[in-house]
Amino acid sequence: DSARFLTMIDLPESGLALLREAGEVTHGKDVGGNAALPELAASGDYDVIVCALDQTFDAVTLERAQLKGIANYAVGYNNIDVDAATAAGIRVGNTPDVLTAATADIALLLILGVTRRAYEGERMMRAGQFTGWAPDLLVGKDVAGATLGLAGFGRIGRAVAERALAFGMQVVFAPRPPAHREVSAAELGDLAGRVEQVRWEEMVERADILSLHVPLTEDTRHLVDADVLARMKRGSVLINTARGPVVDESALVEALRSGHLFGAGLDVFEDEPAMAAGLAELDNVMVLPHLGSATRNTRDEMAVLTARNAIAMATGGDIPACVNPA
Ligand code: GLV
Ligand code: GLV
Repeated sequence: DSARFLTMIDLPESGLALLREAGEVTHGKDVGGNAALPELAASGDYDVIVCALDQTFDAVTLERAQLKGIANYAVGYNNIDVDAATAAGIRVGNTPDVLTAATADIALLLILGVTRRAYEGERMMRAGQFTGWAPDLLVGKDVAGATLGLAGFGRIGRAVAERALAFGMQVVFAPRPPAHREVSAAELGDLAGRVEQVRWEEMVERADILSLHVPLTEDTRHLVDADVLARMKRGSVLINTARGPVVDESALVEALRSGHLFGAGLDVFEDEPAMAAGLAELDNVMVLPHLGSATRNTRDEMAVLTARNAIAMATGGDIPACVNPA
C-alpha cells in the first residue's frame, strides 16, 4: 500500500518530488479545493494532508477526519486546532528552524525601514518629489542605543536579538507574554549577559521598538490592544512579523494616526490578506505581504521538511517536526 498525500498548496518541487517518490500525490485544486477540505479530510482517501495557513482545521473537521497527519507548510500552526487533532489521533507537523533566519531578517528590515522612513523615501522618489538633499528631509530615528523589546523569546526572537545587538540596540525580552517564564542564563547561551529579561508590562513601557515573536494562541490574541498601545512610549515603533491577530489592528491605526506611535512595520495582518480600514493611507507604516520566510532557499527547505513530516506520518517513522508527538 503506497502512501496517499493530498496537497492543498503548490508545494515547491523540492518537497513534491519526495512525496511522489513515497506515494501518490493528489492536488487539492483538482478535487474541490479549500471548500471541500472537511469532506476530503473525512473521505479516508488520504493518509496525510499538506497545507498552509489558508487551510483551517477546526474541531468539527478534525472529529470527522480520517487522517494520520497534517503537514503544515509553516512554522505557525494556529490554522489547526491541535488539541482536536491530538484527540483524533492525528499528528500535526510544522517547519521550525529552517525559516528562522529569513523571518528574523524581515523583522530587521521592518525595524530599519520604519525608523529610517525608507518606505516614505521610496515613494517620494517614484513620485518624482525628491528635489535635492535637505537637512530635514525624512529625518528618522537611530537604532543604535534604542531599546528593542522582544515579545516572545523562541527561535525567531533570539535570531532578531542577535541581529539587533549587531546594530547596537539594547535588547530586552519578555518570554511568553502576557504570562511570564524565567529563562536561565544557561538557556540564554551566547545571549547571556547581552540581553535582559523583563516583565511584559515593563517592556511595553521601556521599548523604543517593540517586536512581536509569539505564536497566535488564545493568550496572545490582541496581546497588543488599545491599552498596550497607549502604554507604549510616545514616538515608539511596533513591528509584527508573527501573526496579525496578535495586534488589534484598528487600535493600531488610531495610535499611528494620532502620532502616539512613530510608526509600525507589519508583515502580517489581522484579517489577512485585507488591511484594517485606514492603514494603507498612513505614511508612517511599512507593510509587506507576509514575506517572512520568502526566500528561495528557505521555501525549498520548508518544502523538504514538510514532505519529510508527511512521509513519516504516513509510514509510521519518526516525524522530524511534530507539534503533538504521541
Ligand atoms: C509563516 O507565517 C509561518 O508560520 O511559517
Ligand atoms: C519561548 O521560549 C517563550 O517563552 O516565548
